[in-house]
Amino acid sequence: MQQTEAIIKARNLKKSFGENTIIKNVSFDLMKEENLVIMGKSGTGKSVLIKCIIGLLVPDEGELSVMDYNLMDIDADQLNELRRTVGYLFQGGALYDSMTVERNLKFPLRRFPDAPSESEIDELVDEVLENVELAHTKHKMPSELSGGMKKRIALARTLIMKPKIMLYDEPTTGLDVITSNEISDLILEMRKKYNISSIIITHDISCVDKTADRIIILDKGEVLNEGSFDEIRKSNDNTIRAYFESV
Ligand SMILES: Nc1ncnc2c1ncn2[C@@H]1O[C@H](COP(=O)(O)OP(=O)(O)OP(=O)(O)O)[C@@H](O)[C@H]1O
Ligand SMILES: [Mg+2]
Repeated sequence: MQQTEAIIKARNLKKSFGENTIIKNVSFDLMKEENLVIMGKSGTGKSVLIKCIIGLLVPDEGELSVMDYNLMDIDADQLNELRRTVGYLFQGGALYDSMTVERNLKFPLRRFPDAPSESEIDELVDEVLENVELAHTKHKMPSELSGGMKKRIALARTLIMKPKIMLYDEPTTGLDVITSNEISDLILEMRKKYNISSIIITHDISCVDKTADRIIILDKGEVLNEGSFDEIRKSNDNTIRAYFESV
């Protein structure tokens, strides 16, 4: 694995909403083809951080670059380009209920000016459905799918853009252990297949164990700790130990 170059660089980020400072001082790098897991209590700003990376929110202070884009000062055209190559699996990752799986998958591709031809789009749909092992659901409506299937289709819808970076916001939350493991395996497979660099926000220890090359723990708006699964697991900090109690 090539891990020499940072694809995301965050330095001394700060983000407040009114009086409420959520991110006080956060710095990290995401290296090329790395799976970086971000853990932290509910409300510590994990989703806010990911939204800054995709340009849905702008940090108040600090430096944030994603590939060659400076997120502190980015125009609308650049933001579109960025979103073409950064996939974001939303927390709760909803599909469009009124569209078939196929139309759900085609939707993001057609939004971009450099959209592939219809026949290329058809091929891409089949390819990503194969990837998530749900080829048979192509003509189904989301209401006909289980929660785990919906998650995998939401993932396929992101992968169809051939992203260089994937941001997974709680990809396994609400799923049973077996389905969670399948999603974790998919995260690993997609990295291998497409050389994707990923940030994975999760509370799911088995997902962390499976996917993480490195973990950062956010607490009170700062990075409390950083390390491999085994390093973090051995921490004496009570907040950190609490995550690993079940292991
Ligand atoms: N657009 C916004 N405007 C005002 N406050 C916001 C906004 N987005 C997030 N917040 C606040 O920022 C804090 C952090 O939210 P965030 O969603 O990042 O938490 P989180 O770490 O992802 O939590 P969880 O684990 O529950 O998903 C919360 O207090 C939330 O209310
Ligand atoms: Mg969140």
